[in-house]
Amino acid sequence: MNEQKKKEILSQLTLEEKASLCSGADFWHTKEVKRLGIPAVTVSDGPHGLRQEDPKDHNKSYPAVCFPSACATACSFDRHLLFELGEVLGSECRSQGVSVILGPAVNIKRTPLCGRNFEYFSEDPLLAGELAAAYIQGVQSQKVGTSIKHFCANNQEERRMTVSAEVDERTLREIYLTAFELAVKKAKPWTVMCSYNRINGEYASENKKLLTDILRKEWGFKGLVMSDWGAVNDRVKGVAAGLDLEMPSSGGVNDSEIVRAVRSGVLKESDLDQAVENVLELADRHLVQVPEDHCHDWDADHEFARQVECESMVLLKNEDEILPLNRQDKIAFIGKFAETPRYQGGGSSHINAYRVTSAMEAVQQVTEVTYAPGFSIDDDQQDEALLQEAVRAAAQAKVAVIFAGLPEYIESEGFDRKDMKLPECQNRLIHEVAKVQPNTVVVLHNGAPVEMPWVNEVKGLLELYLGGEAVGAAAVDVLFGFSNPCGKLAETIPVKLSDNPSYLFYSGEGDTVEYREGIFVGYRYYEKKGIPVQFPFGYGLSYTTFQYSDLEVNHSEINENGSLSVTLKVRNTGKRAGKEIVQLYVKDHQSAVIRPVKELKGFEKIELNPGEAKIVGFQLDRRAFAYYSEELQDWCVQDGTYEILIGKSSRDIELSTTVRIKSASKARRPLTVNSTLGEFLACHPSEEILGTLKRIFPNLEDPTGIRDLPLRTAISFSNGLVTHEMLSKLINQVNSNVN
Ligand code: BGC
Repeated sequence: MNEQKKKEILSQLTLEEKASLCSGADFWHTKEVKRLGIPAVTVSDGPHGLRQEDPKDHNKSYPAVCFPSACATACSFDRHLLFELGEVLGSECRSQGVSVILGPAVNIKRTPLCGRNFEYFSEDPLLAGELAAAYIQGVQSQKVGTSIKHFCANNQEERRMTVSAEVDERTLREIYLTAFELAVKKAKPWTVMCSYNRINGEYASENKKLLTDILRKEWGFKGLVMSDWGAVNDRVKGVAAGLDLEMPSSGGVNDSEIVRAVRSGVLKESDLDQAVENVLELADRHLVQVPEDHCHDWDADHEFARQVECESMVLLKNEDEILPLNRQDKIAFIGKFAETPRYQGGGSSHINAYRVTSAMEAVQQVTEVTYAPGFSIDDDQQDEALLQEAVRAAAQAKVAVIFAGLPEYIESEGFDRKDMKLPECQNRLIHEVAKVQPNTVVVLHNGAPVEMPWVNEVKGLLELYLGGEAVGAAAVDVLFGFSNPCGKLAETIPVKLSDNPSYLFYSGEGDTVEYREGIFVGYRYYEKKGIPVQFPFGYGLSYTTFQYSDLEVNHSEINENGSLSVTLKVRNTGKRAGKEIVQLYVKDHQSAVIRPVKELKGFEKIELNPGEAKIVGFQLDRRAFAYYSEELQDWCVQDGTYEILIGKSSRDIELSTTVRIKSASKARRPLTVNSTLGEFLACHPSEEILGTLKRIFPNLEDPTGIRDLPLRTAISFSNGLVTHEMLSKLINQVNSNVN
């Protein structure tokens, strides 16, 4: 909508109408103004399928295809796949008259316990941001909007509507905002959804720093900001801070508050107008973009859901090449999830699935297997008869495949898990089966990592995450080798919960949770501490093998504003076609600030036939080397040497090289009398100045023992040779030379 049109409509709206446009008409619609031809906009959850509510029954939604959750799709590391997923969802939205799908959700997995981790992509902001951007571009290519959520720091479900996430600025920027920043800048989502919680004391829904200063002014966001459902605390403050739309309807209560506040001068009418303009813009996009005669092929989407899961699941262990299974062998499928898979999480993203394919159903097309449920998924009661039946079935087979996982009652939006364990009845079943059957494979259905006390007793381990409604068919595809596994972990699986960096501080005290681990989230922490993990970030196996070679950079030295090209060769050295995810990490060699050992700065997924080789390329800009300086309130690159690491996972670095980044290093603070000798020398003072200094500090050639002395000691240690004036002059000279 052009500016003039917007202003025209605005001028025809009464104050009451304007206020009323800033909240929903009901749960899923904005308000219409018939008189001026402003239509209602329909929004719907999201993010991994359409949950369009049946207007006749609040608790029901129309059937739709349930795709794998973000915990799974993140493991694909595949921008193209996420774009396609977005396209399909966008097209489904159009067929249902939905203008905005409420997703993707890009909050960082700070603790494995967060009940909503299944909806989130990763512990790494670059991966989360890149995949979210691709998903948004896909949906929006269909002229349907997205709502990237939950902005921001909604990293636990416990007290999510009141808790204050206490996060220092550097951590906020480097970890919790980056995924939003990347996606907003790259993909321009139509809308952003603010989170329920507070950030450093201020509710997200009335946080001007986040909603206006950072989102709009710094990142250039032009769309609409809506509240999470019920996230509004002080509506008037929210309008002033940049919250355009309150969802769902507040029954008019908060609209009246807005009117009162404008009348009494507490709220500027121009702030309200800005919010209304953003609502009008969204309504206009809806009006223009949604055709009415669009139909949809749900069966094709079911097949696509199967493909997405095949591209996402992660093969974690494959001793003696136990997988793929040989269909001539006698195989036992064990575990209730083989028959009733857990394929999605609970809460607002819950889909009324169009059709669910279990592994038991899918395997009928391949071979005959024996089956024993082994455990119940309704509680953690050990049923001895079920257990013994499963052990007998396993013993009589050549291979036992156990379909284990987290039942719904353990993991959902709205609450966090209490621990990182599978139900005890399942752990016991795996131990008992492994005792009688050396060829045991475990297949996991879960939204977040679990402890694996049996991991050394089984030969195979396949992580499905929550794989969508076709998960059973996808699992069979990979188990029997019709599809070659090609996912890698988008999060670390720690050995035990207490290894996790947030363990000491999660879930906070009273109404605050302090993010005291700072930037050391996920692998950034495990790498720094050198802690053994069960499976590292970025890890995953294939039925083929890959060899990396010929790492090259186009410059050995670049200016911080330059761009660096990195290439390497990857060859498929096995006998099957397969896909490999190549990861690029950057390591700062001699940083003056505390930094992680390495950080992911690029990833590419490629497909290779047996024997085939391809060149993989990455382009790095200054941000790949930068950290956020609280002092400068900006991203800062330090002058120095950086290592470019190419890995098959965060722990398996295959190739490396170094590059020198030249930077004016704005990070340097001006010297004062309390700066140290070391800091002084780092400014490369002239020979003449050095000469003066050497007379005071004869050890200057080898300053190891004296580099921490403050410059002011030059006065006291020089027996009157150096005066205050002389020292000030020296310092001024160095400061002016450097700056
Ligand atoms: C969730 C959002 C969701 C909204 C609408 C909220 O409880 O946090 O993610 O989009 O409900 O269902």
